[in-house]
Amino acid sequence: MRFDVITLFPEMFGVVRDLGVTGRAHAQGRWSLHAWNPRDFTQDVHRTVDDRPYGGGPGMVMMAAPLEAAVNAAQEARAAQGLARAPVALLAPVGKRYDQADAESLAASEGIILICGRYEGVDQRFIERCVTHEISLGDFVLSGGEIAALAVIDAAVRLVPGVLNDGDSALQDSFNDTLSGLLDSPHYTRPEVYQGEPVPAPLLSGHHANIARWRRERSLALTAARRPELIESARAKGWLNKIDERYLAELAGTYDPASEPPKRRRRPSAKPAADALASTPPSPVPPKTPDAS
Ligand SMILES: C[S@@+](CC[C@H](N)C(=O)[O-])C[C@H]1O[C@@H](n2cnc3c(N)ncnc32)[C@H](O)[C@@H]1O
Repeated sequence: MRFDVITLFPEMFGVVRDLGVTGRAHAQGRWSLHAWNPRDFTQDVHRTVDDRPYGGGPGMVMMAAPLEAAVNAAQEARAAQGLARAPVALLAPVGKRYDQADAESLAASEGIILICGRYEGVDQRFIERCVTHEISLGDFVLSGGEIAALAVIDAAVRLVPGVLNDGDSALQDSFNDTLSGLLDSPHYTRPEVYQGEPVPAPLLSGHHANIARWRRERSLALTAARRPELIESARAKGWLNKIDERYLAELAGTYDPASEPPKRRRRPSAKPAADALASTPPSPVPPKTPDAS
C-alpha cells in the first residue's frame, strides 16, 4: 500500500513512517510513504503556494497550480510503479467523517493521495478538477490537514495484514465487525489490586466463557451509555443475540421475565445417569419411612 501526501510540512510524517507499529511496518516494506511539497512545483523565485482570497476576508488560500502539479507528479510516480490511478482525498472539515469502515477499505486498497490544506483552505477550482474525496477528522478545525492525514494513515496501516504482532488484536477493537461494531470493553493489567481497586473478578477466573460474557456485557453497557446509535446499528444487522437483548433490557429497566418463553421442564428419568449418581453426595438425612399407623 502506498500513500502520497501533498504537504507543506513533509517532516511531520516521520511520526507514522518511523515510530511504533506503523514505523516497524514501514521498515518491513508493508507500506510506503511519499511526501510531495507544493513549493517544489512553483514557478516563481519566492516559491509561492498561497495568495489572498478573492472577495476579501482574513487569511490566505492555497493556489491551485502547485497542488495540481504535485498531484500529477504523484500519479505519474504511482503509474511508474505499476499502480492504477489513485483516489485523491483532501483533508477538510467539510468532508465526510473518517470512520473504521473507511480505514478498512483503505487498508484493502493500493493506497491514496492525501492533500493537506493550510491557511483558510485550498482554491475550489483545484478541488473540482483533482479531488475525488473530502475527508474530515471530526467537527473541529485544525491548523492544517497533516494531523488528519496522519490519523487516516495510522488507522489504515494497522489493519494491513501482518502489521500488528497479534493478528487478532485489531479484531477486538472498537467498531470492529467481530465486536458487532460496539465499543471495546475496559482493560486491566498488573497489579491485581491498584490503590485499593481490584481487577473485576471474572477476569481472574480463568473461565473463558465467563470472561467473554463479562467483556460482552461491559461492551454493551458502555456502547448503550455513550454511543446508543451503534447498538441500533448492531441490532439492525442482526448482530445482537437474545442474551445481549436481555442484558440491554435489564440495563434499561425494561426487562420483563414474563416475556421469556416458558422453560421446557425435563421429565424425571427413571434411571439416573451413572455419572450423576456418582456425583450425588450421600444424604445426611435418612429417608423417611412411611408411617405405619
Ligand atoms: C484552518 S483549516 C481551514 C478551515 C476552513 N476555513 C473551514 O472553516 O472549513 C486549514 C486546513 O486544515 C485541515 N483541517 C482542518 N480541520 C480539519 C478536520 N476537522 N478534518 C480534516 N482536515 C482538517 C484542512 O486541510 C484545512 O484546509
